[in-house]
Amino acid sequence: MSSTLRLLALGALAGWTAMKLLRDDRDSFSFDGKTVLITGGSRGLGLVLARDAAAAGARVAICGRDPEALERARATLERIGATVVAVQADVTQPDAVRELIDAVAARLGPIDMLINNAGVIEVGPAETMTVSDYEEAMATNFWGMVYPTLQVLPSMRERGGGRIVNITSIGGKLGIPHLLPYSASKFAALGFSQGLRAAVAGDDVSVTTAIPGLMRTGSPRNAIFRGKHRAEYAWFSIADALPGLSVSADQASRRILSAACRGDPEVLFPAVARLAVIASAVAPHLTASALTLANRLLPGAPAARTGRKRGKDSQSGLSPSWLSKRGDEAARRHNQVAPAEGSRA
Ligand SMILES: NC(=O)c1ccc[n+]([C@@H]2O[C@H](COP(=O)([O-])OP(=O)(O)OC[C@H]3O[C@@H](n4cnc5c(N)ncnc54)[C@H](OP(=O)(O)O)[C@@H]3O)[C@@H](O)[C@H]2O)c1
Repeated sequence: MSSTLRLLALGALAGWTAMKLLRDDRDSFSFDGKTVLITGGSRGLGLVLARDAAAAGARVAICGRDPEALERARATLERIGATVVAVQADVTQPDAVRELIDAVAARLGPIDMLINNAGVIEVGPAETMTVSDYEEAMATNFWGMVYPTLQVLPSMRERGGGRIVNITSIGGKLGIPHLLPYSASKFAALGFSQGLRAAVAGDDVSVTTAIPGLMRTGSPRNAIFRGKHRAEYAWFSIADALPGLSVSADQASRRILSAACRGDPEVLFPAVARLAVIASAVAPHLTASALTLANRLLPGAPAARTGRKRGKDSQSGLSPSWLSKRGDEAARRHNQVAPAEGSRA
């Protein structure tokens, strides 16, 4: 072996050992008796994360804007024996976030793990998106991550540690047509999350960035659609329901919580999302062409403005149908359907 090769091998071994030592330092997080706040825990992935953290012994706090969905979530968590606090709060409002954190700390004790999960998504052609769609996405998906983080950090630092889990998206790695405000806000969130990990490592606060591809949380029902909203809802809800392309919310929750407990910097899933990220890194031109083709295949903008519609108000012969079945089941399981809407779900 040449001396250069030996030096490289030694360097790699030293780097690996240093990483192991740093990692092992953080390997010990157990949910038992800990306080975990999940923003947007009233439905979808957030509710599953709250359920799983509670089942592992944590006291959980959830928030959301819709008081009825929040109350149903609280009751569901209490039924499985969870110690739960549900606070109506809008994460886009710094004062509301401060009150939320104070209320959780007063009722459950200081927050050991913060999961920034609250999010909104607007689907439609670029030409139908307005400035307020971009502002809403940034306010929720970016600022709604920054405000709670800045609010919990002083207490985590003071107590010598804590965990922060940021739920971003594959849309924060690839600029996805028909999801422009969402993608832009998730790029911002991902940058914040990755940089934050390095910035707070010295305080023993571990930050994990979750980068999910499609998950069957049932969220399309409550998502916002613009343009030909029925066609937009059809493609989005069907893609979101396809096995292989999407993972169940239960699998997603397990992967995110295990990564957070290990103190991993990042968790990216499913395999198709990992492949897309690798492809964009090694073949950016090809990726750009594939995204352009996808944009052409997706519904065009209508001649007249249709405004913003919820998924549940955008149903058609294509969705709900057997193609969206798994997503529709997920919507019922994960509290996306109010009891009054049950028969139309
Ligand atoms: N589903 C997917 O395929 C997918 C893929 C990648 C990443 N993600 C990300 O994963 C996270 C969870 O997604 P999901 O599918 O579970 O979404 P979801 O079902 O729409 O749930 C979103 C949650 O966030 C809450 N929320 C929204 N705006 C809020 C605000 N301003 N203040 C407080 N709470 C707010 C919602 O409650 P209220 O509306 O009542 O406030 C709800 O509890 C999001 O960050 C999403 O972007 C999802």
